[in-house]
Amino acid sequence: MSLAASVLVLLLACLYAADARSGGAPAAACGTLMPDLPGHTANGQTDPVPYEIDLTVFDEDENGTLQYTPGGVYTLTFRRMGDVTFRGFLVRARLAADNSFLTNAPFAMIASQTNTRISSCEPANSGITHSNGQSPRVELTEVRFQWTAPPADTGPIFFGFAVVRTQQVYWAAQMSAMLKEGPPAPPATPAAASGLAASVLCLLLSLVPLLQL
Ligand SMILES: *[C@@H]1O[C@H](CO)[C@@H](O)[C@H](O)[C@H]1NC(C)=O
Repeated sequence: MSLAASVLVLLLACLYAADARSGGAPAAACGTLMPDLPGHTANGQTDPVPYEIDLTVFDEDENGTLQYTPGGVYTLTFRRMGDVTFRGFLVRARLAADNSFLTNAPFAMIASQTNTRISSCEPANSGITHSNGQSPRVELTEVRFQWTAPPADTGPIFFGFAVVRTQQVYWAAQMSAMLKEGPPAPPATPAAASGLAASVLCLLLSLVPLLQL
């Protein structure tokens, strides 16, 4: 999908999600269908988005470039940067090379975060959205969720998101900073294994005096 098409899809998605539907962003927010847009005339905000995905959980390489560990599991926070709450959001991970949505880097709900849920995207865990079914709508300040980085050889990625402040105030097709693919997680090292063995041995030896009593 071209960048323009991607942006259009997200924009349409956001128009559909603009009232921060209580059940989360609808499937139309994720796909390539061109839905009708009855009654929606507002354009998304063009001023800098006052919300962010906190990327400080990611390591930096020696040059300060953010990187993810392939297959690494992260707890991410989507939050306000100032004092303005939000009612709806949709976060998905995208491949930097072509803006396609990653389907092998699943999001998961954290049980305590009852204002979130897995998206209506395909596959469902390729996005995470709000689930604030109460009325009046919940005014959110931050939400947390789990994300598993894609496998090795995926390359650079970023997070795309849409966020709804009110029915007429929303930001479409936002982008986080880029994350490059970092080195794989080190395998469980023999050192760690021998450390465990040493601990067990130490524990057993510490029992010897007791056994002699
Ligand atoms: C950091 O920057 C230097 C100089 O540009 C480059 O040679 C090196 O490969 C970079 N390191 C990484 C991990 O990209």
